[in-house]
Amino acid sequence: MCIAPANMPNTPSSRHGPRRRTIVLVGLMGAGKSTVGKRLAARLHLPFVDADQEIERAAGMTVAEIFDRFGEAQFRDGERRVIARLIDGLPKVLATGGGAFMHPETRQLILDRATAIWLDADIEVLAERVGRRDDRPLLRNTDPRAKLRELAELRNPVYALAPIHVRSQPLPHDATVDAILRELHG
Ligand code: S3P
Repeated sequence: MCIAPANMPNTPSSRHGPRRRTIVLVGLMGAGKSTVGKRLAARLHLPFVDADQEIERAAGMTVAEIFDRFGEAQFRDGERRVIARLIDGLPKVLATGGGAFMHPETRQLILDRATAIWLDADIEVLAERVGRRDDRPLLRNTDPRAKLRELAELRNPVYALAPIHVRSQPLPHDATVDAILRELHG
């Protein structure tokens, strides 16, 4: 397998564009964007960045606090700015929050300037994974399974605009990383 280092010029070898582009993982909460993203970055010798963590760092508060204090629309605007800045920088693997790709400007930026990968999983797998954390504002005071189903119906047709679609395997994560690498390198 030929994996171009981050500082190599454009290589025509990959099916989905030169490896100078940042790889952006999109998909629902619990799809494994951060866990898989970290492993993918290690395999590609690229840095890994989690957009939600960058937003939290920039705002000096948690995602839940931003939702509480300023509302979702403000969060989405900050998310758009942070993702634009990250895509502007050196190539990396970037995990985005589940709603980022739903924002038309953020989505266009990702589609134009990066390689988007939709990481997808069954509702049961997502529900089991989101159950491990209780800091997601959209899943508070609601039945997470029902909410995830509702979001999947709304968002999956949009995630499907990503040029690469990979099903997240329940275990091990490296199987998902292998599937992504096969898609990237053909
Ligand atoms: C959201 C997903 C979260 C976070 C915020 C909103 C969403 O990120 O950005 O709670 O709209 O789906 P993860 O997908 O990393 O959980």
